[in-house]
Parts: sequence; C-alpha cells; structure tokens
Amino acid sequence: MSRRKGKSSRELGLELGAICGKHFFKLENLHYGYWTLDLSIDLANLHKAQEQYTDFLTSHIPHEVKTILDVGCGTGHIAQRLMDAGYNVDCVSPSHFLSEQVHALLGDRAHLFECMFEQLKTDRKYDLILFSESFQYVGMGKALENITDLLNAGGCLLICDFFKVENGEKSVMSGGHKLQKFHDLIAHYPFELVKDIDITPQTAPNLDLFDTAMKKVAAPALEASFDYLNGRYKLIARLLRWKYKKQIERVYAKYFNGKRSAEDFRKCRTYRFLLYKKLYPHFTSISTVESHKKPVLCCSAK
Ligand SMILES: C[S@@+](CC[C@H](N)C(=O)[O-])C[C@H]1O[C@@H](n2cnc3c(N)ncnc32)[C@H](O)[C@@H]1O
Repeated sequence: MSRRKGKSSRELGLELGAICGKHFFKLENLHYGYWTLDLSIDLANLHKAQEQYTDFLTSHIPHEVKTILDVGCGTGHIAQRLMDAGYNVDCVSPSHFLSEQVHALLGDRAHLFECMFEQLKTDRKYDLILFSESFQYVGMGKALENITDLLNAGGCLLICDFFKVENGEKSVMSGGHKLQKFHDLIAHYPFELVKDIDITPQTAPNLDLFDTAMKKVAAPALEASFDYLNGRYKLIARLLRWKYKKQIERVYAKYFNGKRSAEDFRKCRTYRFLLYKKLYPHFTSISTVESHKKPVLCCSAK
C-alpha cells in the first residue's frame, strides 16, 4: 500500500484547516458542526457544534456493531470517541500530517492504515465502515468494491457527508459527489438503505462561519507568516512561494474568495446521513438490487 505522492490542494486545505482550527479555536475535528436551534451560530460555538455532530453520528450506530473501520479519520477524535464507547476501531488516513496526529492521540489502541481507501488491502473484516465527511474524497466505484469486500455479511456502511444536487444553478463550491450518481452506482452493489436523514439545515451554517474564519483568521495568519519569513529568511520565503505557487494560488482561490455561503450550500448541496446494510451473499443479481435505488426512508433531523 503506497501513500500518494505530492499533495493536492484539498489535502493542503484540510491540513491548514486542522492547524488553524486547533490553534485558534481549540477544535479537535475536521467535520462540519451540527447546529441545533438552541446554539447561536458563532465561531466560539463551533467546538460544541462539532461535538453535537459526533453525538448525532454515534447515536445512530446499530446495536449489533462491534468493529468499525473509520475511513478518512482526520485527527482521530471520532475514532477515540468510538473506542471509549467500547468499539474496536481501525483507521484509514492517507495524509501523513494527520496520521501523525492520530498516532499521537491513539497510540496502539487503533490500527492505522496510512493509505488512500481505494488502495487499502487487508484481510480484516468489519461490522461497520464509517465515512464521516470523507466519502467526497474517494473514487466511488473502487470504494464501493472495497466496502463490499471489507464488510461482514449483514455489516453496515455509514456515510455522513454532503453531495451535489442538480438544480440548474451554478455553485462556487467544489466537493461532493453527485447524489443521483451515487444512488445509481450503489444500486449495483448488495446494499439496502436503512436510513437517509437530511441534515443540510443543521450543517449549512458552517459555511458562513468558515468564510468568516478564512477572512478574519486564516488569511491574515498566512500573510503574517509570509511577512515574517520574508523579513528574516528572504531566500527561503521566495523558494517556498515558488515551490508551492500553484497550491497556494488554488487554496486562495478556493478558500479565501469570500463566496462560500450557507445559502449557496443549501441550494447546491445536500448533507446526508446514509446508513446501508450489506445483504447476505446469496443476494447477487443486479436486477434484484435495482429496487434499492429508491430511498427506503427519508426524513429530516430535528
Ligand atoms: C473533512 S476530513 C474528515 C475527517 C474526520 N472523518 C472527521 O469527521 O472529522 C476528510 C478526511 O478524509 C481523508 N481522505 C481524503 N482522501 C481520502 C482517501 N482517498 N481515502 C481515505 N481518506 C481520505 C482526509 O485525510 C481527511 O482525514
């Protein structure tokens, strides 16, 4: 299993997010918050909103689950929560930077596969495979093949992430697979949809907060770092700017453009909690699975 060479702008964005979030707001997670009506939408409350998201996620894990594979485990804090609750957890993380944090947090408590999920090879099997805001990063076809292989019969796939919705409007946001494409694809695999909860209203406020944090904290912090380097180590600063020119430009264009808003997110994305159950081996025919294209249950979270 090899790690990816080089670093994409999305990866760099996640790492910057982890550094700024931890440093300025004491955040431990990389996911959106779950904003309930009693929580005012303020950066100071993001920590609480993220806790609520993890509570929401873990409260929906089926009782029979004992072993979990946390794919794209970020900083490892969800895995830690799961282990504290008694689950046996393994993690997947392609980012060396984040993997180091996971090692520091979890030590030997969890096995960490440091690779992309699409490249994961193991004989281990799990009762539940979790994608908490990480499904958007994986190639869906290869991921669904791996998920099918890695799950025990009757095991569960839990995806909590946002997807693109086709509404004819153009969004400035990137990220997220097309929801319809995902439904069409998973219909070819032996899964039954058990729960489909739309948590867009609870997660969308994050976009306004993110925009504020980028403008007021991350951009000035980056500029200050470059100014500091420029003043003290001119040559190194120039070298860094030159070496990472494209990535820096992409991060600026994507994260500091001031155009990402909750309103835009609500129009063009849908944040879903999706729980699937793997059907037993005799269930192989694509046509039989076809009926599962339709969501079995779709409801809104409170
Ligand atoms: C937005 S973070 C979510 C982290 C964590 N699950 C959480 O909820 O806080 C996305 C995660 O997906 C991981 N990731 C990106 N591409 C991946 C891939 N191809 N396979 C597995 N994980 C991936 C990133 O390294 C990061 O840990």
